[in-house]
Amino acid sequence: MYLLGVQLVMWHDGKDWHAAEDVCPHRLAPMSEGRVEADGTLMCSYHGWRFDGDGKVLDIPQATSEEMERARQNERSCLRGVRPVQTIHNVVWVWGERDGDADAFLRASNTPAKTFDELLTTTGHADGWSMRDLPYGWEYFMENVSDSSHVPVSHHGIVGNRDDAKPFRWIEDKEACDPDKNFDLKFKIDPPGAVEAENVEASHHFLPPCLMRIETVKSGGGKSLLALYCTPTKPGHSRLIGTTVTCPNDDGTMPGGFGPMAKMASIVPTFFMHIFGTAFINQDGVFLHHQEQNMAEQYRLRGEDWHKSCYLPTKVDKMNVAFRRWMDKHGAKSEDVGSRVPYEPEAPPLPPRMSDEELFDVYNSHTKNCTACSAASKNLAKARITFYIASAALAIAGAAVWAVAASSSPHSAASAFYKKCTFGSVLWIFSALSAFIGTVAANLREKLHYFPYSHQDNN
Ligand code: FES
Ligand SMILES: [Fe+2]
Repeated sequence: MYLLGVQLVMWHDGKDWHAAEDVCPHRLAPMSEGRVEADGTLMCSYHGWRFDGDGKVLDIPQATSEEMERARQNERSCLRGVRPVQTIHNVVWVWGERDGDADAFLRASNTPAKTFDELLTTTGHADGWSMRDLPYGWEYFMENVSDSSHVPVSHHGIVGNRDDAKPFRWIEDKEACDPDKNFDLKFKIDPPGAVEAENVEASHHFLPPCLMRIETVKSGGGKSLLALYCTPTKPGHSRLIGTTVTCPNDDGTMPGGFGPMAKMASIVPTFFMHIFGTAFINQDGVFLHHQEQNMAEQYRLRGEDWHKSCYLPTKVDKMNVAFRRWMDKHGAKSEDVGSRVPYEPEAPPLPPRMSDEELFDVYNSHTKNCTACSAASKNLAKARITFYIASAALAIAGAAVWAVAASSSPHSAASAFYKKCTFGSVLWIFSALSAFIGTVAANLREKLHYFPYSHQDNN
């Protein structure tokens, strides 16, 4: 995987996670093609060098004992760019910078990850994490999740209605919008609107470098929280890791959480919720990928960054302006897109526009890395074949029963004739039912691999 444009290898030694740059010090083969041995060491699959969790070489199979001893003394035998790693609340955190000295490594190892109380305590109910590799950069994701005004329009039919878009009532918090600090922006929701009537106030809190915490306060005193972590993987790409947390009302009851989503999540399988999540993500993805490309194009053609290329006449864009100012101050300058994430020098350039096939590719962006969805994909493939075969067998059996009924005389044994006809019809009904279930399984499986989305068709 990538972090800030650098390809990393990550492995679990049976106890802890480790991360290093994805290059073997011997002849630069990718370590991600390597194997984790039974003792937890990472072995390069090319010539068999083995490394411990600190990146130190433990064994070179072709070395004599003197050569091995010399190699152990030489730093060049170590894996490069070994990073401090923490695991908190089932999420693996990797330090973004490389090549610090031992003190810097220790400081980084002891730097607490950006989390928040409700996520780490049992105050609320946290759902499982979900991940997605997004076809657009980190800044476009953060900009998107700091912008509530798009929700009823872009997510029409899932969490809002495009006809309900309107101005917000703001609770001003000027100081917190200072680009030198974290963002903390609150606004009142006017029900009925983009969200449930139970919601009374929403706030977005940006904790650099990777967390957007979106809090919705409920009329009963409870709240629902969205923890959205985004990793800048490489230009034009980012990785979302998110979850929801629901905290109880003052009287101990649980509020509606994320409304229909929370209710659905409690009764349907995880993969089904992830398909639902794909629809939600694709509703924005189709904008954000092209928005990033358009912004880069404007910068290349006219030298215009967001100050000039975007026209922002309403107050609802306030947090986006704050975010862009923060990027101007803390981001890196680049020749091709203006302010952006400070990627490492070897980061690839912004890739060209993607085709729809790439943009809506669910398998590579999620399913292959998701335990629930990859298992569901296999099971749905089996279900599809099983039900199609059952449907064909039942149709043939039904036809055979009808043929037998037709060949016998209806006058000699009327009741037997009608029984055969009824039985044949029942077999055909079950055949149709099996074909229907097989088709549902095929369609669901398809959505775990490729899920195109069109706003024009979302009426
Ligand atoms: S390239 Fe890794 S052991 Fe040779
Ligand atoms: Fe999934």
